[in-house]
Amino acid sequence: MVIFMMQSFTKENARNIFYGGTVFFLLLFLNLAFNTSVLLPKQERYENTKIKQQVAFGKVLWDNNNCIGCHSFLGDGAYFAPELGNIYQRYNNNIDGIKRFIRSRPDDGIILRRSMPQFNFTEGKLDALAEFLKYSSQVDTNKWPPTKEG
Ligand code: HEC
Repeated sequence: MVIFMMQSFTKENARNIFYGGTVFFLLLFLNLAFNTSVLLPKQERYENTKIKQQVAFGKVLWDNNNCIGCHSFLGDGAYFAPELGNIYQRYNNNIDGIKRFIRSRPDDGIILRRSMPQFNFTEGKLDALAEFLKYSSQVDTNKWPPTKEG
């Protein structure tokens, strides 16, 4: 049986398989390349993930000022200061509240308590940080942190 099959498999068969396979996979490749470069970016979920420049700037400020050195963020970071992954919700979806807090530190009225340093951010930087915190608190984390308090 095996010998019979080997005899019936001609050079022409091999060539056809080679050409057929080449054409098939070339078309498949072109189709996938078209999908990735033309169709995929038009999908809504990709539009939504485009990050605003202000949010990106907020992330730079977040990194450069080492907020994570005191705060945790979705559980990661230091546990000296409150969790900030859901700060936007904790401040009742109020960007101005977040900005007011950062602007007002340290609260001189209350001593003998660890408080957040004064960073003297400009209004533009405060906006960017608050936008970054808003953006990151809207990431789907499957309900983490579990409570509003963090
Ligand atoms: C040296 C430590 C330290 C650093 C660095 C720090 N924080 Fe804080 N932060 C605190 C402490 C302590 C508190 C809570 C006490 C208070 O009321 O000041 C706090 C509170 C906050 C709160 C309010 C949290 C709440 O639940 O009400 C926000 C918002 C905040 N920080 C944002 C930031 C951002 C943004 C940065 C980086 C630019 C940052 N923090 C850097 C120590 C820090």
